[in-house]
Amino acid sequence: MASHNPRILITAGPTYEPIDEVRFIGNRSSGRMGVSLAENASGRGWRTTLLLGPGCQTPSDQTITVMRFRTSAQLKMLLGEHWRDSDVLIMAAAVSDYAPSDTISGKHPRQSGPLTLTLEPTTDLLAQLAEDCRKDQTIIGFALEEIGNLRSNGESKRIRKGVDAIVANPLDTMDSDMVDALLLMAHGREAAPDRPLTKTDFAGWLLDQLPMIQTLKQTQ
Ligand code: CTP
Repeated sequence: MASHNPRILITAGPTYEPIDEVRFIGNRSSGRMGVSLAENASGRGWRTTLLLGPGCQTPSDQTITVMRFRTSAQLKMLLGEHWRDSDVLIMAAAVSDYAPSDTISGKHPRQSGPLTLTLEPTTDLLAQLAEDCRKDQTIIGFALEEIGNLRSNGESKRIRKGVDAIVANPLDTMDSDMVDALLLMAHGREAAPDRPLTKTDFAGWLLDQLPMIQTLKQTQ
């Protein structure tokens, strides 16, 4: 970890992929984890940029630079603009894996028969950013997994996406205020708080792990 205060980029919230001008395909995400991370980072005096999705409340901390996105394509553009000048990326956003291949203009009228939509996979933003990640940059992703596969799926995701660490969260904590996550790092190293924490406390715990994540990355 660089001794200076890192410039941190955090993504939070869902993406909404438009079906027409009214409807969308989206993920369940309040954005609270990412917002807590941004507030904690900014509280440490770190230059903090938060890319925040639709339906999420803007943090009141004026020192956080907040940019809004709706779609995964818009998030991709914002990451393209901000990642190069950042030291750390924490990708807490719940990015839709698919988007309708065409947006219907106006509002599609209700019809009696079924409606078929064609969905195209979106870019895996985390994997793409990790490909060009500099040695002095650190990338942390999140993974939502069934509890029995938390460690194995989280670790395969970390390796497949080429990131420095993955915060693996069990599915059944999705609507919970508490976080009971496992942090998976390089060299098969892992860490976890000794008890479930609130999102605010977990944010502080995770940012405290950055020096270890960075050290493990450097020795790969
Ligand atoms: N992610 C991303 N771009 C996508 C999908 C996900 O950058 N198109 C990021 C998320 O922000 C998260 C990590 O990848 O940090 C893992 O997301 P997750 O939904 O758990 O994994 P997926 O790659 O979507 O795989 P699956 O849905 O099969 O579990």
